Amino acid sequence: MPEITKEIIINALRKVDDPDLHKDLVSLNMVKEVEINGTKITATIELTTPACPLKDKIKNDCITAIKNEVPEAGEIVIEMTAKVRTHANQQKAQILPGVKNTIAVASGKGGVGKSTVAVNLAVALAKEGAKVGLLDADIYGPSIPLMLGIKGKPQIIQDPVTQKMVPLERFGVKLMSIGFLVDDDAPVIWRGPMASGAAKQFMSDVNWGELDYLIFDLPPGTGDIQLTLVQTIPLTGAVIVTTPQPVSIIDAKKGLQMFNRVNVPIMGVVENMSYFIAPDTGKRYDIFGHGGGKDFAEEMNVPFLGGIPIDPRIREGGDLGNPIVYNIPDSDEAAKIVEISKKLAAQISIRNEESSQDVEIVL
Ligand SMILES: Nc1ncnc2c1ncn2[C@@H]1O[C@H](COP(=O)(O)OP(=O)(O)O)[C@@H](O)[C@H]1O
Ligand SMILES: [Mg+2]
Repeated sequence: MPEITKEIIINALRKVDDPDLHKDLVSLNMVKEVEINGTKITATIELTTPACPLKDKIKNDCITAIKNEVPEAGEIVIEMTAKVRTHANQQKAQILPGVKNTIAVASGKGGVGKSTVAVNLAVALAKEGAKVGLLDADIYGPSIPLMLGIKGKPQIIQDPVTQKMVPLERFGVKLMSIGFLVDDDAPVIWRGPMASGAAKQFMSDVNWGELDYLIFDLPPGTGDIQLTLVQTIPLTGAVIVTTPQPVSIIDAKKGLQMFNRVNVPIMGVVENMSYFIAPDTGKRYDIFGHGGGKDFAEEMNVPFLGGIPIDPRIREGGDLGNPIVYNIPDSDEAAKIVEISKKLAAQISIRNEESSQDVEIVL
């Protein structure tokens, strides 16, 4: 019987592609360890995100490829780990050194569920094992502390050179909110430079530690303040939240165009309040119409990440500070949001892989 060698196993794994990144696992540097013990083969595959939607498929493909190449193989163990790759950006490296990726959640209109989506995506990614931060930069209505059930103000630690704020944490998500800077009831009048100054402070003066994903809840709208903000924050990409009806889509389009103008890639569109399932009859009602978000994404040639139904439990989760993804994880609604979070993570990995190729070409 020919000896099973590491080279043979690695060659087998060259035949397994990451379906999102369209390259084989060896070229992607995802094969981290191969151990051979008699006929037992153990391989460690390092994915580009713990929230990989294709984890099981990749694992099964590895087993099949090894079996095909080495019919005499006995037990095959594929261990799946993950290390989120960094969006290479000089400005980000300076302002947010420990943060690998920064994602803005934005909408044209207010009230479409932008903050609800931001919170639940953050909690979902954290549940999958990613290190997640959330920066509530919505100067008009910083609602994330309420939605995450976080009271109190961040502690300030005295660094030898500067003061650093410590984010508050719940559900595995580190939070900073512009609401921490202002009194709850006092009306605040913001101008673009003020908002961007505060956002800058919230990036550089916060002890974020290591983060795979830092999610920004941006103020709704596409005016000067929003434009200044998206130019201030070094963004990996943006997620556009809309409801299905035309009045919301029109504004979502303006939001998307604003990101295009400043060369921030769109990671995808989320349609919130997609439909309502009556709990007594199970009948579906398309309250705001059907398919608007998907059609919009197709028209704009950006990924559609998915739809989230209207559900009173989502609203309650927000008001009580218990996000549905955490509080009712077995619900269909939570499952939909988790699926969206995985698609988002995959898009980020795809972007980072593409831009690393750009760099290679430049060099
Ligand atoms: N899918 C949903 N089902 C039920 N209520 C929702 C849903 N999405 C958002 N809401 C509720 O709608 C209101 C507005 O949502 P919010 O996230 O604050 O919007 P935005 O940040 O866009 O202004 C909140 O009370 C929230 O709980
Ligand atoms: Mg909001």
